[in-house]
Amino acid sequence: MVNESKNLDTLLKESRTFKPNPEFTQQANFNDPNVYAEAEKDPEGYWAKQADYITWFEPYNKVLEWHPPHAKWFLGGKLNAAYNCVDRHREGHRKNKAALIWEGEKGSSKIYTYDMLGREVDKAAHMLKDLGIEKGDRVAVYLPMVPELPITLLACAKIGAIHTVVFAGFSSKSLQDRIEDADAKLLVTADASWRRGKQVPLKQFADEAVRGTAVKHILVVNAVGDEADFSMKEGRDLYWDEQIAKASKAPYPAEPMDAEDILYLLYTSGTTGKPKGIVHTTGGYMVGVNHSLRSVFDIKDEDIFFCSADIGWVTGHTYIVYGPLSAGATVVMYEGAPDYPERDRFWDIIEKYGVTTFYTAPTSIRTFMKWGPEYLEKHDLSSLRLLGTVGEPINPEAWMWFHKYVGNEKLPIVDTWWQTETGCAMVAPLPGLTTTKPGSATRPLPGIIADVVDEEGNSVDYNSGGTLVIKHPWPSMLRTVWGDDERFKNTYFGQYPEWYLPGDGAHKDEDGYIWILGRLDDVINVSGHRIGTMEVESAIVGHPAVAEAAVIGRDDAIKGQAISAFVTLKEGYDPTDQLINDIKAKVSEEIGKMARPEEIYFTGDLPKTRSGKIIRRLLRNIAEGKDLGDTTSLADQSVVEQLQRLYKG
Ligand code: WT7
Repeated sequence: MVNESKNLDTLLKESRTFKPNPEFTQQANFNDPNVYAEAEKDPEGYWAKQADYITWFEPYNKVLEWHPPHAKWFLGGKLNAAYNCVDRHREGHRKNKAALIWEGEKGSSKIYTYDMLGREVDKAAHMLKDLGIEKGDRVAVYLPMVPELPITLLACAKIGAIHTVVFAGFSSKSLQDRIEDADAKLLVTADASWRRGKQVPLKQFADEAVRGTAVKHILVVNAVGDEADFSMKEGRDLYWDEQIAKASKAPYPAEPMDAEDILYLLYTSGTTGKPKGIVHTTGGYMVGVNHSLRSVFDIKDEDIFFCSADIGWVTGHTYIVYGPLSAGATVVMYEGAPDYPERDRFWDIIEKYGVTTFYTAPTSIRTFMKWGPEYLEKHDLSSLRLLGTVGEPINPEAWMWFHKYVGNEKLPIVDTWWQTETGCAMVAPLPGLTTTKPGSATRPLPGIIADVVDEEGNSVDYNSGGTLVIKHPWPSMLRTVWGDDERFKNTYFGQYPEWYLPGDGAHKDEDGYIWILGRLDDVINVSGHRIGTMEVESAIVGHPAVAEAAVIGRDDAIKGQAISAFVTLKEGYDPTDQLINDIKAKVSEEIGKMARPEEIYFTGDLPKTRSGKIIRRLLRNIAEGKDLGDTTSLADQSVVEQLQRLYKG
């Protein structure tokens, strides 16, 4: 809690407010302030109305069945997510409208109309079927940001297969864990990928990852081509292009899915144990994400929506694939890095395509701030009409910078709080209605009942801290943890049996606005991505020289948090710079670069309580260069001395 109290002070001083622009309000999808009260009176009735924006093959007969902690939404309803994202738009005036604009890192671009996208999805659906994939089978997807990625997801959805995307920055070991847990039959990957002009050998990682798993085929997309270094295993490995060429060109009839059939799994980290496979189902997820596009993002037919996340994370699932496409918008998908070839790449994309809505992360905004406004100033950003952020609390300075330089001091900014588990935005402004305050995600959306409570579950007084809870189920909530319902119950409903516990600290101000303060557990948020302490510690302890390790997240000006590792060595090993490099490399290899510790401290012992719990607060203070603070809970006071003689690298 040490970090949080610091945040609390800075946030409390924030008193600037920004009223919605009346012109914006006038044209907004949501411009009647009564919407909140109406939804609160009858959340189920509210969600039933939102469900009308989704096309159902068969109507549902009940909105909600709630046996805490298990919710079912739109019972008996039949629908298909890919039909809602693609086919229904092909049948009307959007048929020849751009659905997906893909911009490659090296400067090429591809534009798919809804009709073209539909044909690609149908061919891919036939291909999956030809490879023996059936409804309910799991398909692991380990792809860079190429068009085949959303096409694969939509093709899975079309045939009723469950996709599980693994971010292409993850290591082969992390990929393997996820493939095993999901028991995937097929892996879709690429020969390699481009990152800042360099190749990442995805197929080589995939080869290692599938060893000993149930994967029968690896489908290989040509993302790099001739220059890629990889091999194909006869019988097991197949080229995407060759298989697609063989697939039927007939329309693929969308599989009618039950509202509660699983749409996808997406793995996310916790403090203990292996990553959790978050389960999202079809009906509720589609209703929830579509609603958030219309409400939070005020989506219109003319919009060109650019979300800078990777589809490997939930943000990309919801705000590159299922959300904007279900709303019939045009979505921009960018393959590469924001500074390749120059630091103006995002602004260049916004200008080139006339982007109207730009959704990014506070960590990116801090990077833009560091680079300076000159990179934007040479671009025409006048097409923009709405900005959004997600991933971590946004510092008021970063919010103001976004407002001033990108928003030209007039565009609404929606700071959206949500999680992999929630499926879509939960606490966020409605841009035509909500007065915003830099640093606050403002209020729960209509239909979402959230509060900040104390240990006993009492609503906290204004301006005192507590924990965020969601008091009523919502359509796009996770249904369980794949293969581990006990873990689902304990993690999210263990403290309050009928309320969902997101694990974030928060406080409320006198207007009822929610200010998210960050995680209450030890999950580390690096650049808006959750990294479990346990996973990093396990990777470090896997090094033969290491006896014990503790990792913490320390404040970092750009990434929000950076990882510091405290390591004790086995007898006979000495701390050296070489060892530091080896350990860092091991974490990169086992989990991925984003989990690599920024610094490693060697110590004779770790600070522990009498019951043997590591006192992370002490370690955090060291990493942030602060006083050790209160050390009375230490089992062994001599550890303090050892901690003061750290070997750091
Ligand atoms: C955690 C969820 C949801 C997509 C990105 C991350 C933090 C997320 C905000 C925000 C303050 C935020 C929370 C949350 N978080 N958005 N607008 N303000 N904190 O998804 O990896 O599941 O992480 O990110 O701590 O619990 P995720």
